[in-house]
Amino acid sequence: MINHFITKGNYIFKEKGVSPIPMMFRRELDIEKPVKKAEISATALGIYTLLLNGNVVGNQYFAPGFTSYKNTLLYQTYDITELLLSGKNSLFSVVTGGWAVGSFGFTRKNRITAKRQAFAAEITITYEDGTEEVIVTDENWLVSQNGPLKEACIYDGEVYDATVSVKDHVWQIAEKEELKIHPALIRDDRAPVQEVKELSPLSVNQVGEEYIFDFGQNFAGVISFDIIGKEGQKLLFLHSEVLRPDGTLQRDFLRTAKARVEYTCKEGQQSFSPRHTYMGFRYVSVRGLEKEQVDSFCLKAKVLTSATQRNGAFSCDNDKINRLQQNILWGATSNLFEIPTDCPQRDERMGWTGDIAVFAQTACYNFKMEKFLKKWLRDMRSEQKKTGGIPNTIPSQGYGFPETMPTMAVDFWGDACIMVPYALYMAYGDEQVLEENYEMMKAYANACKRWAAFASVGTKRYIWDTFHLLHFGDWVAPDVDNMSQWQKRSPWTATASLYHTTSLLAKIATILHKAEDAKAYDTYSKKVGEAYVKCFTDGEGKLLEEFQTAYVLPIYFGIFDEKTKKKAAANLAELVKKNNYCIGTGFPGTPYILFALADNGFADVAYKMLLNTNCPSWLYEVKMGATTIWERWDGLDEKGNCPIGDDGTDTMISYNHYASGAVGAFFYRRILGLEPLEAGYKTFMVKPILGGDLHEAKGRVDTPFGTISVSWKLGDEFEIQVEVPKETSCELELPDGSKEQLFEGIHKRKINLTEVNYER
Ligand code: BGC
Repeated sequence: MINHFITKGNYIFKEKGVSPIPMMFRRELDIEKPVKKAEISATALGIYTLLLNGNVVGNQYFAPGFTSYKNTLLYQTYDITELLLSGKNSLFSVVTGGWAVGSFGFTRKNRITAKRQAFAAEITITYEDGTEEVIVTDENWLVSQNGPLKEACIYDGEVYDATVSVKDHVWQIAEKEELKIHPALIRDDRAPVQEVKELSPLSVNQVGEEYIFDFGQNFAGVISFDIIGKEGQKLLFLHSEVLRPDGTLQRDFLRTAKARVEYTCKEGQQSFSPRHTYMGFRYVSVRGLEKEQVDSFCLKAKVLTSATQRNGAFSCDNDKINRLQQNILWGATSNLFEIPTDCPQRDERMGWTGDIAVFAQTACYNFKMEKFLKKWLRDMRSEQKKTGGIPNTIPSQGYGFPETMPTMAVDFWGDACIMVPYALYMAYGDEQVLEENYEMMKAYANACKRWAAFASVGTKRYIWDTFHLLHFGDWVAPDVDNMSQWQKRSPWTATASLYHTTSLLAKIATILHKAEDAKAYDTYSKKVGEAYVKCFTDGEGKLLEEFQTAYVLPIYFGIFDEKTKKKAAANLAELVKKNNYCIGTGFPGTPYILFALADNGFADVAYKMLLNTNCPSWLYEVKMGATTIWERWDGLDEKGNCPIGDDGTDTMISYNHYASGAVGAFFYRRILGLEPLEAGYKTFMVKPILGGDLHEAKGRVDTPFGTISVSWKLGDEFEIQVEVPKETSCELELPDGSKEQLFEGIHKRKINLTEVNYER
C-alpha cells in the first residue's frame, strides 16, 4: 500500500495564482547482493518524475495522472531491475504542483487538493538469494527546493537553471505528510500521456531580437533543444498557435497562461526539455540566442498525447477534406490529454463535458478510446452531484467556472454522461460501460426532467426552458454574435437534448434488460418530442423561429415523424442555401447537420456545405492554413487578423478545439458509408452517399472482431471493396439502391451508374 506520503515539512505555500516551488526528493540505495527483480511504485499529489542514476524512469508524462483526486489517486509501478547498479544508487523524484497543488482553471486557483506537494513510493527489491527488501518513503529520504527546476506550472511553463548542480542543493529530512483527502489508491489504468512524434521546425525567421521557429503544425507538447551555451546565458522560449500579420507571435488569447520556458545555461553542450508542463503551439520565439550560436542551436518539439493508438483511418480524393481529417486528428491528439480537454493552450485545458459529448463518436472512430474515457467516466461518476447534475468540467473539484452553475443539469454538457458511454458501447461493443454508468445516467436524466418541469404546467412541463443563463445553448453558433444569444437558444437545445438523452436511455435500458425503465423513458421522451413540435414548430415541419440548430436536432434525433421530417429537412436545406451554404450551428448542431441534410434527400446541400470554403465553414479554416480545428469558425479573417471582439466570452479564441471536428463521423458514416448497426460492429452497414464530386474514398475501422475496410471508386462505373471480419455481417447498400448481406471475406462489387443517386 503506497500511502506513506512525505513532503518538505517547513514549506508554507500561500501565494495566489501561481504554482508551488518544485520539490526534489532523494534516497540513496545500497545494493549489496545480486538483484533478481526490483520494482518501484509511486504516486504524488502533484506531478512526479523519477530519476534513477540519472535516468528517467518510465516513458510517461504527468504521473500519477489527472483524476478526481479526492476520490481517486493513481499510482504507477515501474520495473527498475535494469536501472539498478550494484553498490550505490541515487534515486530522485521531482514533484511539481501539477493539477493538485498548482495553479489551474481560469480563476488560477491553487492548492485545490493539497496545501503543498506530497510524494509516496515503495521500492521492492527481490534478491537472487530469495530475500526481499522493501523501502518506503519515510524520514530516510531527503528533500530540497533549490534544485535547477525553479518553477513548473501547467499553464505558465518552466523556469530551469542549469547552473545549479546537485551539490548546491540544501537537503533536509523529508517529513510525513497528513493529506486532507483520502482517495482510493488505484493502480494506473489510464492512457498515459506519451511522446508520439518529434517535430523539427520548417523555418526560422529573425524578427528583431527574436528567432521565430515554425513547426508547421499546431499541437500539444513541449520543446526540446540542444545548445552549446555560456554559463549564465538566459534563453526565453515563448509559444503561440498563430502569428500576427507582422510575423510576431499572437499570444493574447492565451489569457493568463505564460506558456514559456526560461532557461539559464551552464557552460558547454547541454540539452533540455520540460516534463512538468505542456503548451498548445505551432510557433516558438527564442530570445537570448547569440548570432554565432544560431547554426549549432537545435530546437525540436515533442508531440504529447494520451491518444497514442489509432482505431481507424479515412481518406478521399479531395485534398481539402483530407487536410480537414488531419486537422480533426491533430485536434484530438492535442486534447485527449490525461482528460478530454477543451483546448491545450490557454488558461483552461479543462475536462469540459460538452466538448467530448459531441466529439466522442468521432474520437472512437479514429482512436482507441476505451481506457481513456472509462477512467474519465469513473471520475464523472464520483463527482456527480446529489441532485443528479454533472459538473461542467470533470474533474471539477472547485476549479472555478462550474461553480456558477449550481445544479449542473446542463443540456449537452451533462449529456456527456450518456453520450460518451453510448459512443464507447457502439464502437467497441462492451456492455459493461453501460452497466457501470447506468445509475449515473438515470440520476442525471431525472435531474433534467425535474428542471424541465420546474414551474411549468401542461405541455410546457416537457420544454426545458428554465434559466437561460445556466445553459450554454447553441454555443459558438456563428450566425449570432455573442454569448448571451447562444444561451438564449437553450430552450431548443435543452428540449432536444432532453428528448435525445431520455430516448437513448430507453435504448440503453432495453440493452440492459430493464424493461420498466425502458418503457418509462420511452414514453417520457415521446412527450418531450411532441412538446418540441407543438411549441417550436407549426406542426408541418417549419420552425417558428428558424435557425440551423433548431432544425438539425429534431431531425437527427428523430423527434419528427417521417413526413414532417422530410419537410423540416427541406426547410433546413432552404435555410442553408440562404446562408450561402455556410455553417450556422454551435456545438449542439454541428456534429449532425450534414446527416440531417444527407439522410433526408439533401446530400447535394450537405456536400456543398462541407466543401464550402467561405467563412464560416470547415474548409474556410483549411483555406486559411489551419492545421487543427478552431474553436470559433471565424477565428481569423482573410487577412489573418482575429475579428472577434468583446462578445462576452473573455477572448475565448482557441485554434485547437476538437468540438466542431465532430464532422469527422460523417466521413466514416456517410462518405465511406460505414457504421455499426449492432454494438461493436457485430452487424454493420456499408452505404456510401455519393456527391461533392468525390471520386474515391477509403478507410478502415478496427472492431473487436477484426478490421473492417471499405474503399470505393467512382468513374464510369462505381466500384467498391469491403472487408468483412469473421463472426460479423455487413449490410451493403450500393448507390443504385441494391442491397445484399455479406459475411466474412473480401468482397468486390461493380455497378453502372448513369446518374448519382442522392435520394436514398
Ligand atoms: C471552453 C469550451 C467549453 C465552454 C463551455 C469554454 O471556455 O473552452 O469548449 O465547452 O467554455 O461553455
